Amino acid sequence: MGNQIKNVGILTGGGDCPGLNSVIYGIMLKAYDADIECVGILKGWKGFLENKTIPLDIAEHDDLHTVGGTILYTSRTNPFKGVSSKEERAKELAKKFEELGIDALIAIGGDDTLGVADKMYKFGNAKVVGCPKTIDNDIAGTHYTFGFWSAVQLASNTLDNLTTTAHSHQRVFIVEIMGRDAGFLTMYSGISAGADIILIPETPFDLEKDIIDVLKKRVNAGYKHHIIAISEGAYPKLDSLNRDFKTISKETIDKLPKDTFGNPLLAQLNISQIIVKELDLRDDLKQEFQKNGVDFECRSVVLGHTMRAGTPNSFDRILGLRFGLAAMKLVIEGKFGNMVSLQGNKITTVPLSEGVKKKYITPENDKMELRDLLVKIRYLSKQK
Ligand code: F6P
Repeated sequence: MGNQIKNVGILTGGGDCPGLNSVIYGIMLKAYDADIECVGILKGWKGFLENKTIPLDIAEHDDLHTVGGTILYTSRTNPFKGVSSKEERAKELAKKFEELGIDALIAIGGDDTLGVADKMYKFGNAKVVGCPKTIDNDIAGTHYTFGFWSAVQLASNTLDNLTTTAHSHQRVFIVEIMGRDAGFLTMYSGISAGADIILIPETPFDLEKDIIDVLKKRVNAGYKHHIIAISEGAYPKLDSLNRDFKTISKETIDKLPKDTFGNPLLAQLNISQIIVKELDLRDDLKQEFQKNGVDFECRSVVLGHTMRAGTPNSFDRILGLRFGLAAMKLVIEGKFGNMVSLQGNKITTVPLSEGVKKKYITPENDKMELRDLLVKIRYLSKQK
């Protein structure tokens, strides 16, 4: 209390997602009530470095929580890129508050954006709090991020819808779903829609065993169309890559270009299209389909940025608002260096340094077992 915050800066960094505006509105509601001015910093850390700000007047933004995207724009600018001393840089960044006309900052972003906030707090003693955001839901400090469930619903609906065209053409569809390091989006939407094969980054796949064998078993069990859900970051196991793949090698993956935070630009790999090409080279697979009266045909669909597009669903609107409210309260209470978090159904607080760590689907997660049963039991039960 009593740390005399008069102006709070807000920035959104990294990939956008539905619910960012809901957080901003939650912050603005509480700030207005506490007589604190909100200053919008444009394009994440880029605007922070370049002093690009706008005033945020709540009277002009009725129902902002219902609108997708972010009115503050976003970027993947990394203010630590190429610097020799993190400590010095963090101190420089912390000193910029005065120039920006802010007393404190709420950074809304994923592990990259919040990692910057954490260093600013740790080394520069900056009055910063964080709000976790990632469509991939792969931040350790919170059970869910806003936007995630909107994206799961969208992908699940698409997987559902694709079954009609897959059925009509008796085709295999390989659907590439966002998820660079973690497979939450693919796993949840794949299970929800009952995808026939679900491949995620946490469990590298074997082309022969996890795709070709399963397709053969399914076609022999009478299935004539098949939906495969795959994360954009799901790679083959090294031995499968060396043994089974004709169109790519380990080098192809290692040499992927990276963004300013060092993340591979996966859209340039297009794993679903690679699998289409690999399957198309397999005469044994085609023969198995022929034997069962089906012409083998395979198509890929990349959901890509449609996953982050559109308006947030009700869950994400409310979670965004709750995060915004809680983040503003942290500022008012002077609890800097922390981020807001959802644990169960409660909004809590965790230190940025802990919260920004990555989260993955672990073997003991019951979704792993569900996925494996869902894939296997269907063709096994038909064989009886
Ligand atoms: O923010 C994570 C993410 O949505 C990943 O799933 C995806 O690989 C990446 O962003 C896409 O980034 P961009 O919007 O820069 O193409």
